[in-house]
Amino acid sequence: MCGIVGYCGHKNAAPILLEGLKKLEYRGYDSAGIATLCGGGFCLKRCKGRVDGLVPVSELAGKTGIGHTRWATHGAPTEENAHPHCYGRFAVVHNGIIENEALLKEECLLRGEHFASETDSEVIAHLLEEGFAGDLLGCVRKVCARLRGSYALAILCSAEPDKIIAVREKSPLIVGARRKECFLASDLPAIAGEGVEVYALADGEAACIGAGEVKFYGKTGAEVQKTPVIYDFEGENAEKGGYTHYMEKEIGEVPASIANSLIDFSSESRYSDFCKVLCQTYYIQIIACGTAYHSGIAAKYAMERLARIPVEVCIASEYRYRDPIISPHTLVFAVSQSGETADTLAAAQCARERGALVAAITNVPYSSLTRMADFVLFTHAGREIAVAATKSYAAQLALLFSVALFLSKERLPFSVLSDFVELSRHTLSRCFCIADWAPRMKEAKSVFFLGRGVDYCNALEGSLKLKEISYLPSEGYPAGELKHGTLALVDDRTPIVVLLTQRALAEKTMNAVHEVVSRGAEVFLVTSLPEYVGAEGIRSVCLLPECAEIFSPLLSVIPLQLLAYRVAVLRGYDPDKPRNLAKSVTVE
Ligand code: AGP
Repeated sequence: MCGIVGYCGHKNAAPILLEGLKKLEYRGYDSAGIATLCGGGFCLKRCKGRVDGLVPVSELAGKTGIGHTRWATHGAPTEENAHPHCYGRFAVVHNGIIENEALLKEECLLRGEHFASETDSEVIAHLLEEGFAGDLLGCVRKVCARLRGSYALAILCSAEPDKIIAVREKSPLIVGARRKECFLASDLPAIAGEGVEVYALADGEAACIGAGEVKFYGKTGAEVQKTPVIYDFEGENAEKGGYTHYMEKEIGEVPASIANSLIDFSSESRYSDFCKVLCQTYYIQIIACGTAYHSGIAAKYAMERLARIPVEVCIASEYRYRDPIISPHTLVFAVSQSGETADTLAAAQCARERGALVAAITNVPYSSLTRMADFVLFTHAGREIAVAATKSYAAQLALLFSVALFLSKERLPFSVLSDFVELSRHTLSRCFCIADWAPRMKEAKSVFFLGRGVDYCNALEGSLKLKEISYLPSEGYPAGELKHGTLALVDDRTPIVVLLTQRALAEKTMNAVHEVVSRGAEVFLVTSLPEYVGAEGIRSVCLLPECAEIFSPLLSVIPLQLLAYRVAVLRGYDPDKPRNLAKSVTVE
């Protein structure tokens, strides 16, 4: 992950770089730094922790500079390990992982060089310094040829002022240009603006960036012409709109997210090629990570139930390593909010190489996933700033359920799904009980989430949300599985959140409820079945509106997201920026 920025133009670089870094903080916030070219050398400022720690930047003179916000992989989150890393005539920021760092470093150490950090990135500056003999771009290309792993790099050389060299291999990097100014960044929000033309670098490409001039070079080193990408610049929707945290605001945007992401495939002609493929599909694989993986589990239940097509849901980081089988007429959905998750990209690439058609489901136009997929289906959740995925999960569910509905043998009307826009609004208004649940859970030693059938996806998702922002140990389980071992952990200090939205399975799930209640556990029930309000042993109920059961995860996740949010706040944590995490995971 990590975010990188660059600026070369007629203005002071540091304040522009600082603003860019703030917009990339979702990519990591362990440490930050800026280097500018000034007085024939570098002005450097770095800090541990968030980008705000760099303020003020007024002492950093210079109109050309690079910046970095870090998610630590190699080396602790300290100021010494913060980028940029400077060595000799070079300053470097890096997003990615250099897998052969140890070997390369050994070579530098044998030359007697000293390293100031524990990172895998510093070695790049050393190799550049050793290899530079006047041809900057040629030197960068030679060094890159020796790197294994993934990288997006921005490089300053004090011998060639007013210039930044940018290169990309398996980590995102975009370049922006307008009169007298050039920018570069890991992601669009950091550089999009009035009159900025944006170019996406492909793997193996390089850019030489000057004030108002940028040249691109292909894999062979020859100059290439690139076409600017078309993008909608809606401005940075970074306002909290009266909410204390983005996460709470984004949960409130779930109904809009569902409304914007539902697709009536049978009536929208722009999807006709995709629908033809869908109609010839006999096997579906869904590859994704984290929350996106949970949307895949919900989709499996819906697609298999409604379309009778077998669906396999695969953790993307494992996909390549199990030698996956792609039979004829297999369609692979790669689901990723960011479209930059390295594990998902690698799995999608693997599936394509084995002959599958890949449909990307992503929230981010021009992301790497959109460029490699055969079909692209956008979720329209809007920019999600909090690290914990909330409205984007609802959008993924809405889109995947739209596919299930289209494939439905029963050819259910689209209104079955579109009703969920209003139903999700009702659900939000019924979640007042969460304010009462959160204090009772905040000191728990661990929390279990149980669900049977399609409810299982939100048992996993509710648990992940709670873990990632409140740091409470938690597990999501199929309701029937607890008794096969984990029940041993349940006692009167173990809150159990139970999801109950399918009438035909309710009695079976209630068996699990009785088992935990008789061990003293307190049960918190999220249900759309009014007959279970007041059931024996259950005092705490969040009653959802009744709905088409197979799509109920669109509703039942809302109280779980709010619960995680409230518990995190009560425990004194910032739910928008949980420790050790980043929004976009661009390393394997
Ligand atoms: C969700 O709250 C997490 N932050 C995380 O699990 C996330 O869903 C996962 O890293 C996948 O990200 P993606 O959707 O951008 O690929």
